[in-house]
Amino acid sequence: MGVEKEILLRAENIHKVFTVSEKEEQYVHVLKGISLEIHSGEIISIVGASGSGKSTLLHVLGTLDKPNRGNVFFNGKNIVELSDEELVQIRNKEIGFVFQFHYLLPEFSALENVMLPSLISKNTMKQAKERAALLLEEVGLQERLEHKPSELSGGEQQRVAVARALMNEPKIIFADEPTGNLDEENGEKLFQLFLRLNESFQQTIVFVTHNEKFSILGKRTLYLENGKIFFQKVV
Ligand SMILES: Nc1ncnc2c1ncn2[C@@H]1O[C@H](COP(=O)(O)OP(=O)(O)O)[C@@H](O)[C@H]1O
Ligand SMILES: [Mg+2]
Repeated sequence: MGVEKEILLRAENIHKVFTVSEKEEQYVHVLKGISLEIHSGEIISIVGASGSGKSTLLHVLGTLDKPNRGNVFFNGKNIVELSDEELVQIRNKEIGFVFQFHYLLPEFSALENVMLPSLISKNTMKQAKERAALLLEEVGLQERLEHKPSELSGGEQQRVAVARALMNEPKIIFADEPTGNLDEENGEKLFQLFLRLNESFQQTIVFVTHNEKFSILGKRTLYLENGKIFFQKVV
């Protein structure tokens, strides 16, 4: 029997309803009762058709959005009950995000972009710089520290975004179709990086993809359909 890993995140009966028009009573019921547990050190993939609610689920799990019903316990705290200020803290220190588009700041170098989360959490310039350089080396970009995002390839930009997500040693990384804008080869490279982070550092990672080949890299895959998890596969 394996050692029981600690539960990092637990979602209980999550519902999310978007109001399109209050006046015309138009609502979209996107998440329809999702419950799940994420253990520390897991790497999980989420797949499902476009519109099935994958991004919405990731936003709710990652504290970017609140559910209309249900609870999300992150690291023992119910995020549904936290203030915006507390959520900002959690997002800066404990959660890393990687999106389909890199959202790097165009005027800043790769190094400066990666340093930002650390500076925001009030570490010194020296500390930030050292760790950022280390992480950029970890993602294979030691030769690109001073490059602006526009001087990097799509694959390199996404690896900078991964380094930035790792900056404050988050407990969990959420990645929403991180290879959606990349060709097959660069997509492969990014997912190999995720696997290495998970295997070498037990980094907890939850990623959304609609590429079958990448989805099987998750040790557990959640299949989302019409706002519900209809199937779970554990490797
Ligand atoms: N802010 C919003 N307002 C209204 N509807 C939304 C909003 N965000 C998402 N939706 C709807 O919710 C459904 C699920 O969206 P999403 O979670 O982005 O799906 P996926 O990431 O699986 O493609 C879609 O039908 C989408 O149009
Ligand atoms: Mg999406």
